[in-house]
Amino acid sequence: MSKLNVAILASGRGSNFQAILNEIKAGRCNAEVKVLITDNPEAKAIDIAKQNNISFEIVERKNFEKRSEMDDKIKEILDSYKTELVVLAGYMRIIKGKLLLESYKNRIINIHPSLLPLFPGENAQKQAFNSGAKVSGLTIHFVDETLDGGPIIYQEKVDISDCKSAEETADKILKHEHKAYAKVIDLFSRGSYIIEDHKAVFIKKT
Ligand code: GRF
Repeated sequence: MSKLNVAILASGRGSNFQAILNEIKAGRCNAEVKVLITDNPEAKAIDIAKQNNISFEIVERKNFEKRSEMDDKIKEILDSYKTELVVLAGYMRIIKGKLLLESYKNRIINIHPSLLPLFPGENAQKQAFNSGAKVSGLTIHFVDETLDGGPIIYQEKVDISDCKSAEETADKILKHEHKAYAKVIDLFSRGSYIIEDHKAVFIKKT
């Protein structure tokens, strides 16, 4: 079965990016990361790309007059790498470009550290910890024009009742993110899907 052609968008340390590469190397994720796109020239994710001989492209907001022009540039790069799935891994910008969103509709995914629709936006783990929730988790969803509101692909609960701080909560959820994201990318490589009731339903290839 051919490998899924993936592009990663990341702004920071890139631990999910690294975890996806680890799972690919271990043979548990049938994908190939062709390019990292980042808006942050200081992102640690760039080091990960370099260590793994993966191309990287820096697309900084300051180089574009309009926000949509930045997203148009990203779309151009994605096209040039023949990207099949765009994986947001700690990408700290909301995608607003209509061209990018429409061209890659239901082919851009994000991982969010809560059980959406609970705790959207920034500091989701802190929001969960401060709320006194005993259970939180993670959501992998399609990216659309809403904030963390696109159709849900996968959710996993994490017991956070033993966490003593927001940081501990984030660390515990992150460990689950690292396995879940690659698992979902692998699903994309192995089957097609339909969206029903705002949720992705996978149909395995026979
Ligand atoms: C993760 O917690 C992810 O859920 C969120 O941003 C964080 C990225 O971490 N979208 P990393 O850069 O992959 O380490």
